[in-house]
Amino acid sequence: MIAPSPLQRPVPRGLSAAMKTLHLSPLDPDFVQNPYAAYAMARADGPVLFWQDYGMYAAFDAATVQALLRDRRLGREVPQGARAPYPAHLSDWASMESHSMLELEPPRHTRLRGLVLRAFTSRRIAALLPDIQEITAELLAGLPDDPFDLIPAYCTELPVRIIARLLGVPEQMSPDLLRWSNAMVAMYQAGRTRAIEDAANTATTEFMDFLRGYVEQRRNDPRDDLITSLIAAEEDGAKLDPDELIGTCILLLNAGHEATVHSMGNAVKCLIEHQTGFAALAPDRIAATVEELLRYDPPLHMFTRYAYEDVELGGITLKKGDEIALMLGAAAHDPAMYKNPGHFDPVRLAKPHSVFGGGLHFCVGAPLARMELNVALPALFAHLPNLKLAEKPRYAMSYHFHKLDQLIIAPQ
Ligand code: HEM
Repeated sequence: MIAPSPLQRPVPRGLSAAMKTLHLSPLDPDFVQNPYAAYAMARADGPVLFWQDYGMYAAFDAATVQALLRDRRLGREVPQGARAPYPAHLSDWASMESHSMLELEPPRHTRLRGLVLRAFTSRRIAALLPDIQEITAELLAGLPDDPFDLIPAYCTELPVRIIARLLGVPEQMSPDLLRWSNAMVAMYQAGRTRAIEDAANTATTEFMDFLRGYVEQRRNDPRDDLITSLIAAEEDGAKLDPDELIGTCILLLNAGHEATVHSMGNAVKCLIEHQTGFAALAPDRIAATVEELLRYDPPLHMFTRYAYEDVELGGITLKKGDEIALMLGAAAHDPAMYKNPGHFDPVRLAKPHSVFGGGLHFCVGAPLARMELNVALPALFAHLPNLKLAEKPRYAMSYHFHKLDQLIIAPQ
């Protein structure tokens, strides 16, 4: 899913000499550590620029990003004429992508999303609260006394086990799910190489093989889980084909933890660095604090759209077939929308943000991610009231994912 790695692409036909061009490598360590400073400069110059390193337009302001996410003249699905065949070494990857709702537009997107939403009801999500609390308590009880990396021990474990439980995949599969997912999402990060592509394709093959076998095993074993609903839809024939069933499970299992893990890591870092008081984590305040944490340091910074017809954008024409990056991380720091955006303010008056996207592809898992953060953050700080950073955290070289390499904390 998500954004392409930077490539040298042909300059779009509509690009006039007057169009401002941004030269900014997503592999620049300073940018990766603090993308917001570069976003502010780009926004002041744009807000829509041609980003040379990606070979596409990019929008850095909240108004344009929010409008284009909802604009049906644009979409995620690669337009017919622009589809380059995938190389043979990415055949399983390509097959999985072609059945993922995230890469599709109506009518297939509508059908797949509808099926997922029917199973992904607010009742089913709300019913996960005791599971989230139980796993959180179990993880906290097992944390060491000496400094340790909170990302694998806590931030990763909770979302991966919850999404496995929701789908109905054995939680003992978590290490495999993580391994496959990590190899697959590397496809969306800057600096993609042949080795990364090979590893992603192998992970996809293994993931598909596992799911095919597991679905067969579960056909005669219906339970109250998402996989049972999806199998029923597939058996109906008209609703879901076998490849779509597998593609949907992979999308949900991967998307169901990746961003939540990173938002939890970024949130804990922010709360410790700002010495945020316990009051901000109190039951009546935590929801607002979580929204501000997501806005302040979101885990996913860039999603792209294709123009399906010519689109006027304040003096720029996106030509049919052009691609534009919607800079979610930049939009979250737009001073036109959020006063003093670089300031973490847990009592900030809530304003809409695009951290979960918007429009047709709005994140299916937003209520689940919010619930996990709402439980896991207060529980962590209540359990370890003297929590400190033991090492300066660094963001991983994995743009557009904005995630920490590690988060070494001292519990005492
Ligand atoms: C803090 C955590 C999360 C963040 C920041 C996040 C962010 C996003 C964003 C920005 C999109 C839209 C992409 C676009 O418009 O191009 C999206 C889509 C999606 N997300 Fe999430 N997500 C999170 C957690 C989850 C969880 C827990 C799930 C669980 C299943 C999930 C499942 C999905 C799915 C299935 C889509 C595709 C929706 C579609 O194409 O209609 N996400 N997410």
